[in-house]
Amino acid sequence: MLNDKVITEINRIKGKYQDARSCLLPSLYVVQKEDGWITPDAMAAVGDLLNVPKTTVKGVATFYAMFINKPMGRHLIQLCTNVACMVMGAERLVDLLKEKYGLEPNGTTADGRFSLVIMECIGACGTAPAMLVDTDFHENLTEKNILDTLEKYK
Ligand code: FES
Repeated sequence: MLNDKVITEINRIKGKYQDARSCLLPSLYVVQKEDGWITPDAMAAVGDLLNVPKTTVKGVATFYAMFINKPMGRHLIQLCTNVACMVMGAERLVDLLKEKYGLEPNGTTADGRFSLVIMECIGACGTAPAMLVDTDFHENLTEKNILDTLEKYK
């Protein structure tokens, strides 16, 4: 279900567009920002609110990699292991996250603090390896600074 804050925000977004389908991406983003992921119930509620078929909402919410469709930890780590990052040691960083936090790719720590998703290039090849933590961008990662960085996220 959607809370009053989310409903108000989606109604505000609706006022900016003539076509309800155009509201779908920003509306789903509002839901995810509030709840951390988009539940099947939330997809249905967004469909009702926008008068868009639920199958359309589900299709959009499950198509784009930026939308999360399962429960996640409080902080989402998106670590790139594509070529430039791999050459600069990203695979070792994946191993380090497993050793330090017991965190596997597509997994969540036992305490619900972190989830890890392995990404293709995130556009920071010149300063690889790189990751996003929630919406924060971090580059030039090393075995030391990745742990220092993650310790700031409780
Ligand atoms: S390969 Fe990792 S940011 Fe481009």
